[in-house]
Amino acid sequence: MKILVAITGASGALYAQRLLDNLDPRAHEVHVVLSNYAQQVIAEELPGGLRLPEGVKTHNLKSMNAPFASGSNPPDVMVVIPCTMGTMGRIAHGYSEDVLLRAADVVLKERKKLILVPRETPLSLVHVKNMELLLLAGAIIMPANPSFYAGAKTIIELVDTVVARVLDHLGVPNRLAPRWTEEKE
Ligand SMILES: Cc1cc2nc3c(=O)[nH]c(=O)nc-3n(C[C@H](O)[C@H](O)[C@H](O)COP(=O)(O)O)c2cc1C
Repeated sequence: MKILVAITGASGALYAQRLLDNLDPRAHEVHVVLSNYAQQVIAEELPGGLRLPEGVKTHNLKSMNAPFASGSNPPDVMVVIPCTMGTMGRIAHGYSEDVLLRAADVVLKERKKLILVPRETPLSLVHVKNMELLLLAGAIIMPANPSFYAGAKTIIELVDTVVARVLDHLGVPNRLAPRWTEEKE
């Protein structure tokens, strides 16, 4: 699979890190693009910065010289994790002024899979209406809401309850978080 991971400036950079930690660039073509504000939040939240697995291809936000800037070469799936309300609004309304937004536009128009992992609370009607528009356009919205029934003991285990569901929707087999009614490993 060709997978594009887009990271924006919402709190929860660890969600992006854990997703990257669990995508094998030998099994998939993994591309990464960061919004400008992603850098700032990563600096706040990830001591040592974002760790990119070997083989992951990074792209300059301001250059359209990336395969997924064109409908002729879209990724199979794009994940925006974590996704700000700003980026969500821009995607919902077709803004395409950088390669992250253009890629989301391409993924929607080419009917590929767009997974958004928004993080914000509380939500305004603007956010909810943008989510409605994106759902109608075919996006999958997976809020960064961890689950607690599996008894996570660490922040990473809690984060992984969200990342596991994202991997499920990506179609990447995983045993990252215990599944309901299954024994813990
Ligand atoms: C530490 C920090 C945490 C933030 N957390 C969020 C958040 O959880 N959700 C959100 O929508 N915006 C959040 N923001 C604000 C966004 O970074 C800001 O709106 C930015 O313009 C978004 O740009 P982007 O969508 O291009 O990344 C945060 C900003 C900072 C500095």
